[in-house]
Amino acid sequence: MDITVGLLAESFAESMLLPSGYVSVLRFLVKQYLIERRTLMPHTAMLIGFYRETKEGGDEEEEQLAGTVEVCFDKRGANASPPTPTSPKDSPYICNMAVKKPLRRRGIGWHLLKASEELISLMNPSSDVYLHCRMIDEAPFNMYTRAGYKIVKTDSILILFTLQRRKHLMYKKLPASSSFLESDTLDSDREKAP
Ligand SMILES: CC(C)(COP(=O)(O)OP(=O)(O)OC[C@H]1O[C@@H](n2cnc3c(N)ncnc32)[C@H](O)[C@@H]1OP(=O)(O)O)[C@@H](O)C(=O)NCCC(=O)NCCS
Repeated sequence: MDITVGLLAESFAESMLLPSGYVSVLRFLVKQYLIERRTLMPHTAMLIGFYRETKEGGDEEEEQLAGTVEVCFDKRGANASPPTPTSPKDSPYICNMAVKKPLRRRGIGWHLLKASEELISLMNPSSDVYLHCRMIDEAPFNMYTRAGYKIVKTDSILILFTLQRRKHLMYKKLPASSSFLESDTLDSDREKAP
């Protein structure tokens, strides 16, 4: 849990433009959050992705934690204080995705997204899945759009008065779980994406 906590704390500090001194405070808060969320399993799950590089001589480096994502499957796994615009509480929801900064742009976020969708489809065939994305975050917005997510609703400009960034609520209808087997490679997924 500690390395996942560290990764999420660094990612939150980055997105809130906080100085690195705040990371230890965030670590404490994220750890409390994850401990609480763990009691809601199997209505929610944290997925983690590992990365191992193969060097030129064929030697493999030790694997390292590369990314994480949280999936809520149903109403009982829903967050007690959901962000705006609110998503339907009983629909699956994806959140808290982060990839380690030096390992970005290698397809890890994409794999985490696809793994989340596959798991949701297995738990609940023919599901709708929701997620939030801040309007200023180009990287995840491109990834979600490419994966077929559409904007359902966007925060009103008045949200700026609460010192929050405006967010989009995005939605996708997942295919039946068998369709994932045909498209479990990055390239075939991307070819199918809009
Ligand atoms: C969003 C995030 C998880 C993406 O992870 P990643 O492993 O770098 O993403 P991938 O390499 O799988 O990229 C998948 C697609 O997303 C889009 N994308 C990713 N990073 C991008 C960037 N910096 N700029 C523009 N598009 C980007 C691209 O379409 C990319 O496909 P391509 O590389 O074939 O062009 C990562 O940038 C991150 O951790 N950001 C900080 C936390 C965050 O914003 N989380 C999302 C909260 S909504």
